[in-house]
Amino acid sequence: MGEPGSTKFQVDLRRHLREQKVERRLIELICEIAEASKYIINSIRTGDLGVAGTSNLYGEEQLELDVLSDRILQKRLKSSGVVSSVVSEENNDIMQFNCENDVCYSVAYDPLDGSSLVDVNLAVGTILSIYQGDNILLPGRQQAAALYILYGPRTTLVYSTGNGVHEFAMNQLMEYTLVKENITIDGVGGIYSPGGQRNLYTSGTEKYVRSLEESGHKLRYSGGFVPDINQVLMKGRGIFMYPHLQGRPQGKLRLLYELNPMAFLIEQAGGAASNGRMPILDIVPEGIDMCSPVFIGCREDVAMAEKFIAAED
Ligand code: F6P
Ligand code: MN
Repeated sequence: MGEPGSTKFQVDLRRHLREQKVERRLIELICEIAEASKYIINSIRTGDLGVAGTSNLYGEEQLELDVLSDRILQKRLKSSGVVSSVVSEENNDIMQFNCENDVCYSVAYDPLDGSSLVDVNLAVGTILSIYQGDNILLPGRQQAAALYILYGPRTTLVYSTGNGVHEFAMNQLMEYTLVKENITIDGVGGIYSPGGQRNLYTSGTEKYVRSLEESGHKLRYSGGFVPDINQVLMKGRGIFMYPHLQGRPQGKLRLLYELNPMAFLIEQAGGAASNGRMPILDIVPEGIDMCSPVFIGCREDVAMAEKFIAAED
């Protein structure tokens, strides 16, 4: 796509959604989220880096930026008129909003994933999972859409409504314009991104990671889930994992806010996402705070992880 000011035609997000024949209210919702992200960018760039003095459902200390990003999104979703239920990683309850339409959506989101990386100026992101209707506690396969916004050197938005994965970049006018359509990833990759302390890995994961290293995979781990997944999608190869650990059998990442949306995007790109034993998208959530181990990326790499875990002693 051309730079702003050039004569090259740019496809913006709304136009792309229309061309994809996405349901009208879902278009409104995704565009509203894209608007909200502009305010989140501003708070990342200029906001206070201090702690808010509160903690979330997982006992993690909330930063002022977490709370602010949450408020920005919540307000936008509420006023959109197309959202009935909302749940956020930074909030302890499912919120019910007034939806004035015959078609309504529910949203689960992580407003600022990786927020503790802002003070060291690494990339962070917003992750969203969207369902039609007002039930959020559904298997991820039933998502109507999934998207993330990555705040890196550039701001990008990646979405899927179940019809491929598409990347947009924010231009100088703060509009999202199409960069890549129908993104696909290879069957095997040469990159691995391992989360969690290695000395707490169980035997199956440890053997799996060693096999990746022996076959020449390169280590690329930023500590931010959004940039790490974005790397897999945009390079078209790689595997990210945050496995079950000794003393932490469910790993760290949250099913509703982090894993389901990313698993939806990666599957749409031809990859796979597993908890080591079954697809992430088939897990029936037991609660809004459910966590799960994850192995996500190239299909054959994920299948190999499952093999090592099945043989675990
Ligand atoms: O929200 C969780 C998160 O910050 C992710 O962005 C990231 O993948 C993960 O935690 C990193 O965890 P750790 O610091 O344990 O590697
Ligand atoms: Mn997070």
